[in-house]
Amino acid sequence: MFDLSGQVALITGSSRGIGLAAAQALGLQGATVVINGRSAVLLDEARQRLQHLGIHAIALPFDITDIDQAINSVDEILKTVGKIDIFFSNAGIQHREKLLSFPLSEFERVVFANLTAQWALGRHIASGMDARGYGRIIFTGSITALLGRREITAYTAAKAAMHGLVKQWATELAGSGITVNAIAPGYIKTELTTKLWQDPAFNSWLENRVPLGKWGEPDDIASALVFLAARESQFVTGQVLVVDGGLSSSM
Ligand SMILES: NC(=O)c1ccc[n+]([C@@H]2O[C@H](COP(=O)([O-])OP(=O)(O)OC[C@H]3O[C@@H](n4cnc5c(N)ncnc54)[C@H](OP(=O)(O)O)[C@@H]3O)[C@@H](O)[C@H]2O)c1
Repeated sequence: MFDLSGQVALITGSSRGIGLAAAQALGLQGATVVINGRSAVLLDEARQRLQHLGIHAIALPFDITDIDQAINSVDEILKTVGKIDIFFSNAGIQHREKLLSFPLSEFERVVFANLTAQWALGRHIASGMDARGYGRIIFTGSITALLGRREITAYTAAKAAMHGLVKQWATELAGSGITVNAIAPGYIKTELTTKLWQDPAFNSWLENRVPLGKWGEPDDIASALVFLAARESQFVTGQVLVVDGGLSSSM
């Protein structure tokens, strides 16, 4: 089960963190992985790490918020790989600031990167999947879409909209052999959360608050992703799979 041999996966934001763990997991199941990020240098390091594991990895640097560049880059790589079976729309950014001083420009930047850009690139990729009658689209949501948290107003708005988008797309694409789901991570130790895991007060809050009593690791998300990316999950669509050590299930 979950053999991905012969399949091609594009993972945005995969030079590090959750995306890199996802690329590794999909690659070890046999998929060719197209990895992405803005820094070509970081991306090449990631590609080499994956290649050392015997994974066929291709680096495709582009900025998801430059939609023309993103679409052109995907079209260009399609000439080589021929198709995209699995799209993990994962690149995301954060801006932490109190609501009452949160600049509108930052709100727009975060919502554009975490929602609008994903909608535009995802739709382009979905049209290729539609033509071939098969696809797996997985977005990265967040538990912040389920539970409020101070200082992340733009991020929460974008991720909550993303959870809604999953249901909408699952409905619209259901006749095309495409499933659309999201994974909503809890607190995962990556560069995005550096400020939090470097703060002793936050760490002790987290250890008490999360029923499993610890930070999640990128591999915890990658293993859930393999299920949603595989042919075998064909009857699962429109779902948000929460991977949070029980945080959102417990008061
Ligand atoms: N970590 C958590 O606790 C957590 C919790 C819930 C949800 N999430 C979500 O999980 C996803 C991955 O987060 P992470 O924690 O792995 O973050 P991360 O360690 O900061 O990695 C982010 C990745 O995205 C790339 N990226 C950022 N902006 C980009 C852009 N405009 N275009 C292309 N690539 C871009 C980065 O590479 P470059 O900087 O080189 O572009 C990097 O590869 C995000 O959607 C995040 O919101 C994370």
